[in-house]
Amino acid sequence: MPPDHSVHDRPGLSFLGTGYLGTTYAACYAELGHRVIGLDVDTAKVAALNAGTVPFHEPGLTELVRRGLASGRLEFTTDPAVAAAGADVHFLCVGTPQRPDGTGADLDQVAAAVRTLAPHLHGRALVVGKSTVPVGTAEWIERLLRKHAPDDADPEVAWCPEFLQEGHAVDDVLRPDRIVVGARGDWARETLARVHDGVHELAAREGREIPVLETDFATAELVKTAANAFLATKISFINAMAELCEASGADVAALARALGHDSRIGPEFLRAGVGFGGGCLPKDIRALQARAHQLGAGAAVRFLHEVDLINQRRRERVLQLAGELLDRTAGPAGPELAGSRIAVLGATFKPDSDDVRDAPALAVARMLHGAGALVRVYDPLGRENARRSHPELAYAESLEAACADADLLCVLTEWAEFRTADPAALAPLVSGRLVIDGRNCLDRQAWHAAGWTYRGLGWKEAA
Ligand code: UGA
Repeated sequence: MPPDHSVHDRPGLSFLGTGYLGTTYAACYAELGHRVIGLDVDTAKVAALNAGTVPFHEPGLTELVRRGLASGRLEFTTDPAVAAAGADVHFLCVGTPQRPDGTGADLDQVAAAVRTLAPHLHGRALVVGKSTVPVGTAEWIERLLRKHAPDDADPEVAWCPEFLQEGHAVDDVLRPDRIVVGARGDWARETLARVHDGVHELAAREGREIPVLETDFATAELVKTAANAFLATKISFINAMAELCEASGADVAALARALGHDSRIGPEFLRAGVGFGGGCLPKDIRALQARAHQLGAGAAVRFLHEVDLINQRRRERVLQLAGELLDRTAGPAGPELAGSRIAVLGATFKPDSDDVRDAPALAVARMLHGAGALVRVYDPLGRENARRSHPELAYAESLEAACADADLLCVLTEWAEFRTADPAALAPLVSGRLVIDGRNCLDRQAWHAAGWTYRGLGWKEAA
């Protein structure tokens, strides 16, 4: 997309934290004509980005980063003074992981980013939160800024949540389906309106309009977690129905199709399977529960605990199915799988990503390994990240190598490579023609026709 030519007065922007969120925003806003600085504490990452290497997989992003660098509008630095001097608006894009005790969000990186930037600010500056945070964080940041900024600085806070999906992040930034602006004053709102000129202009050129919702801080912060909680609930709802289908003989895929035709329900996020994972949905539903509890409103989101439990049970169901298919007796701790060779196909939390954070596929691989199985994992893009986080598992370099002599295949991430694999070609490689389709993504008939015993999640094999 060529940048608009009326871009000379776009505000300068900095993005604090050059992970998946900050890097995508930085590159996209440079493309839209802003002067952009990405700030990070990780010198190796900053050096790689300045050399045009994106250290994670996101379609289209490398090209944008390289174009931004070549245009001179995009630069990455570890120096907060450079970010403060070169930008009028500073976006907080650092991670807010789950705390090690498993409850609320860890805001250490947010605090560190604010403390690092604040002493370098002078005059009027806008600090905008993008990271997913517990409601109430914006006011806390206002206090932090007041404490750490010099006397001649007049920083203001606003909140502008992001809704990026990995694998679609570039498009989600350039073509957002809504913009939420939580701000206190007119100056912050007007400044953010100028920041968003570029995406509105692009939308106008494409005959679209982007709704802008102006809210208070708390609403803007809550929109993001509420959206993720809703999506997680929708997935766990269909997975709960999957349990019911397994018990009753109904078929969850057909059920989901029928439900999805109701426009009030819609077909999205009704894919039953081994459940949700990733760096967002699981941690966000837990952080929301923790924050609601602190606010005295814990009862309002207690159902999210159930959403989490349904999600975890789908992982156990794969283990149970593996025991059934391999004809192993189950002890109190689940099936005993000692000596069975299992190919786990998929390691990432979803296809077209190399992200293995809280990936259901890897969690199941570990459970199978824990039950004594000889597990071999293959993933087209996530192998290296998986190997780093779970070195105890064995990894194969190809689908065929993973399948060689396997007693059972478990498809746990719906990569195109697995969906389109020819079951007749895989059959001679394996010891047992047994397959568990943990994402209901394979062509059941084709696998049956090639002589496989096939099990999916959410329906009962006819006797
Ligand atoms: C999610 C949200 O979809 C984004 O809107 C949000 O901005 C982002 O988190 C975030 O907080 O940053 P993402 O984690 O990239 O995006 O992944 P999703 O596409 O939402 O998938 C999450 C998980 O749910 C995956 O493990 C996927 O396999 C699973 N899923 C999704 C299902 O099991 N069934 C479905 O029908 C849909």
